[in-house]
Amino acid sequence: MASRKLLLLPGDGIGPEIATEAQKLITVLNEATEGGFEIESGLVGGAAYDDCGEAISDTTMELAQASDAVLFGSVGGPRWDGVPYEKRPEAGLLRLRKEMGLFANLRPAICYPALADASSLKRHIIEGLDILILRELTGGVYFGEPKEIVDLGNGQKRAVDTQVYETYEIERIARAAFELARTRRGKVTSMEKRNVMKTGVFWNEVVSRVHREEFSDLTLEHELADAGGMKLVREPKQFDVIVTDNLFGDMLSDIAAMLTGSLGMLPSASLGKPDDASGRRKALYEPVHGSAPDIAGQGIANPIAMIASLAMCLRYSFAMTREAEALEAAIADTLNDGIRTGDIMAEGCRKVGTSEMGDAVAERFRTGLA
Ligand code: NAD
Ligand code: IPM
Ligand code: MN
Repeated sequence: MASRKLLLLPGDGIGPEIATEAQKLITVLNEATEGGFEIESGLVGGAAYDDCGEAISDTTMELAQASDAVLFGSVGGPRWDGVPYEKRPEAGLLRLRKEMGLFANLRPAICYPALADASSLKRHIIEGLDILILRELTGGVYFGEPKEIVDLGNGQKRAVDTQVYETYEIERIARAAFELARTRRGKVTSMEKRNVMKTGVFWNEVVSRVHREEFSDLTLEHELADAGGMKLVREPKQFDVIVTDNLFGDMLSDIAAMLTGSLGMLPSASLGKPDDASGRRKALYEPVHGSAPDIAGQGIANPIAMIASLAMCLRYSFAMTREAEALEAAIADTLNDGIRTGDIMAEGCRKVGTSEMGDAVAERFRTGLA
């Protein structure tokens, strides 16, 4: 089997703890399937800053560009609150996304049957939930210029962030949304603020045109992003694919995480454009949650978002559908067997730490692959 190159970037806080569990599953995969996965590790975020004074080094960037996929833990934490803005831990992740061209961020929110009571919402609202938030990841207010704090010289300052979208950026994320919807329930809901923002008016216009010209057999609906957020909590199952900009997508996906019971459950895939010659697309897989400084170092973080991100990696970077499904089934089986980390703990279940949760999924994955 040709080797498959993964770059593991554990990062900060709980990142290294959950990354270790993903590694366990890759070992199972290599043993059971001759998957041929080779893992190289690198530093990112605060860990990289402490090492070389940057949130990611050029050498690590080169490794990321040359890998078949990057597996990313999480970055950030109060320890680095004082570092210069350009060097803050989160800048490492933003550089990876921008320079690798990872414009399409898939954030699926699935309610596992065993967790239907773990959400703060009532069971009937989230039971059977299966939605996909598609977040534009390389544009918008995250990257628009100017982005600055200006001293006005009269004792006042002015802070500016700029929301910018060009036609091609909206076209390609809209196409990705419709293509994904075609493999699901055929419905896309686009969310913006066209009542306030020029970028919202334009977003709406471009998504509507792509729908009309290329995907008119599918359903397209539009929501103002604030009302969309409300509906996501009131009646989430009305959605299939939600396509939205970088900032709204960040917020809406944290909201969606709580429909699934915990931020520790939500995986993500960030994908670039397929290469014309090889068809290969650059990709990074990471949990939606952050470095959880409040629980870091205690061995209690939920590794499922990280493990489910590995399942997305198998599906989207390596077309290993059978293995991806086996891994997702191993997660569901573990939950069905009443094994829980603290964040999803319920009465009558067995509370375990990060490593035991990883072991439990690995054991079921091994059986599932056999
Ligand atoms: P967070 O996601 O780190 O934590 C929010 C809450 O969810 C905390 O109470 C935390 O304990 C809990 N939580 C998160 N993941 C969990 C898991 N796997 N298991 C159990 N509980 C979990 O968000 P925050 O506290 O706002 O941010 C902390 C740091 O992480 C900040 O520096 C932020 O910039 C960074 N961050 C990084 C990423 C990333 O690396 N992709 C994403 C979000 C936030
Ligand atoms: C996420 C995070 C990041 C974002 C931060 C850490 C830069 O919140 O991936 O959701 O805002 O995109
Ligand atoms: Mn976020």
